[in-house]
Amino acid sequence: MASKRGKRAVVRVKRKAAAARRAIGRAAARTPGAKPAAKKVRAPKKALAKERSLAAAERRADLAKRRAARTAAPRKPAVKAVAAANGLPKPSAKPWGQAGRALDGVRILDFTHVQSGPTCTQLLGYMGADCIKVERPGVGDITRGQLRDVKGADSLYFTMLNGNKRSITIDSKHPKGKEILDRLIKHCDVLVENFAPGALDRMGLTWEYVHKTNPRMIVASVKGFGPGPYEDCKVYENVAQCAGGAASTTGFREGPPLVTGAQIGDSGTGLHLAFGIVCALYQRNRTGRGQRILCAMQDGVLNLARVKLRDQQRLAHGPLTEYSQYGEGVPFGKAVPRAGNDSGGGQPGWILKCKGWEDDPDAYIYFITQAPVWGAICDLIGKPEWKTDPDYATPPARLPRLRHIFNTIEEWTKTKTKFEVMEICNKHDIPVGPILSMKEIAEEPSLRATGTVVEVDHPGRGKYLTVGNPVKMSDSITEVKRAPLLGEHTEEILTKVLGYSDTELAEIKASGAITAPEKPAKAEAA
Ligand code: COA
Repeated sequence: MASKRGKRAVVRVKRKAAAARRAIGRAAARTPGAKPAAKKVRAPKKALAKERSLAAAERRADLAKRRAARTAAPRKPAVKAVAAANGLPKPSAKPWGQAGRALDGVRILDFTHVQSGPTCTQLLGYMGADCIKVERPGVGDITRGQLRDVKGADSLYFTMLNGNKRSITIDSKHPKGKEILDRLIKHCDVLVENFAPGALDRMGLTWEYVHKTNPRMIVASVKGFGPGPYEDCKVYENVAQCAGGAASTTGFREGPPLVTGAQIGDSGTGLHLAFGIVCALYQRNRTGRGQRILCAMQDGVLNLARVKLRDQQRLAHGPLTEYSQYGEGVPFGKAVPRAGNDSGGGQPGWILKCKGWEDDPDAYIYFITQAPVWGAICDLIGKPEWKTDPDYATPPARLPRLRHIFNTIEEWTKTKTKFEVMEICNKHDIPVGPILSMKEIAEEPSLRATGTVVEVDHPGRGKYLTVGNPVKMSDSITEVKRAPLLGEHTEEILTKVLGYSDTELAEIKASGAITAPEKPAKAEAA
């Protein structure tokens, strides 16, 4: 509690400041056409003097307040004092997980399609952002109908990438549709898109236009390539994996380049874009203005393949000794080779057969011969003499013999299931990883328990599994919601978010901007 004297001082100074503020307001109002906060208004001398005295009064009020706070007793907890000094709100007293979600209040104009963009906005939706997915009337995101498993229902391709979103149908090339988009731009914080290069501009939504319409808006794009020779190209997942350096370094030395099943080009770039958006939102708190974000898929893949660019530079200084081709005496060429299942780090590893491998294509385990547990490995596989044998005792001595070492370990792993190997090795801190099939992952109870694999119900297709939020936060709990039907929230968004009246809504409906064009009657078509 502040002392009575202190409190009175604050009240006195505050009163003076308020009086000065009122005087300035009056003076400015007397200046023809002037607004008190306008940039180049020349306030009369008297008003300027008042303004100065206002600033001084505010400083005095601040001083008096701080003095009063110093005499206050009992002292507030240190954390609260720090928070107040930073101008941040006091720590919430709500229980963990009940203080809303991280991105509550952020509204996304989601102009994404296929995979890369939708991955990004789904993650933002998991974090609480209101994602308004704009789709072409009657058509929607092309993936709704791709790889369909249930006749007439939205595909898993679509539903697993578009949870936690609302869908509005708008023909972005229709004049009324443009008008609705303008309103959306004014009501949203971020526009996310992954159209082919130039498509957004052709809709009239250039950066300049969007920025002028809403200077706070962040415009975030995925493109295949950044500025350069390929900037105009359309790109899908595997093109990015190839152009980003992943394919040339994946696969076996004696085979062709390989793409990986993990969608590092699409989902990986979506993840990068989500990171960029959150950073831009944070910066906007300081600057008050939005910015453009570009994530090129080639760049995203290269970022994930950076260890291979590391190895490219190491090659200039000699062979890559941890690659098994070194131990096999195969010379290196000019570029980083494909390394099969070699470990990408400094601890040699390989995929080994386990019990049942003859019939089960996934009865394998990844086995890492980490140096500190070498003794335990030797004991387990029945080779205790390797612990002291100079040909095996040290990591450099083992490098030329890796193939033989892994073949020997495999003789042991083949006598156990991958889960038995996992259990035994983990007791000795030996890093191993079972090769899990997608079936095993879908059925794994611990992944269900943590919300990483989630079952949701969908009106068109019934229950389906999706991947929940892989980022777990203690105070921002994700509730995974099913993907929307095409245009399911059109009316809701037009009226509740954009404020259109019932009459206006009827006009919009009649205009054809939110509905699919009528199919011509057969006779007419002929
Ligand atoms: N109303 C009216 N027209 C709409 C619309 C709407 N609501 N939504 C989209 N369209 C139009 C676009 O304006 C564009 O028309 P235009 O080319 O006449 O200007 C058209 O639909 C198609 O857009 P586009 O992006 O070219 O689709 P596509 O199917 O030909 O290409 C990709 C698909 C993925 C190859 C391409 O979008 C691309 O390269 N994107 C960037 C990289 C990327 O994200 N790739 C990964 C995808 S997982």
